[in-house]
Amino acid sequence: MHIHRYERWWMTFGLAMLVLFAGTIIFSAVADNLNPPSDMQAIDPAKVSSTPPFDHPGLHKLSDGSYELYYVAQVFSFAPNSVTVPAGSKVAIYVTSPDVVHGFEIAKTDVNMMVVPGWVNDATHTFKTPGTYLLVCNEYCGIGHQNMAAKNEVK
Ligand code: CUA
Repeated sequence: MHIHRYERWWMTFGLAMLVLFAGTIIFSAVADNLNPPSDMQAIDPAKVSSTPPFDHPGLHKLSDGSYELYYVAQVFSFAPNSVTVPAGSKVAIYVTSPDVVHGFEIAKTDVNMMVVPGWVNDATHTFKTPGTYLLVCNEYCGIGHQNMAAKNEVK
């Protein structure tokens, strides 16, 4: 089969770009030691409802005045559905899923996580401004995805 010279140059260019971009990703991952989060806590997705503290998801106040907030994200709700924290509270949020991949985004904050079955994801946020913060699933998870939301009241 005859391939025109320009066609061959273009294919070579395309292939070179693929190798360059893949190489950049691999190089940066190796050179900067960038890996998928490896300090994440694993959990048996079939046993979320019987694994502490996810057997009783919700808000826990720590002795230093900060909070831990445990969530279970599942089709198509978050548990707890509503929590109230005082303004200025530092909240360490932990979330896992017993079923499928969900999103975990608290509007007006930088909290935006993926919730993967088998893993506990976490983020810490200080809620400075009073108000109602909407927590939404931003990862399509099925027929009721658009109803998957909860709220955080900061007072
Ligand atoms: Cu859960 Cu979308």
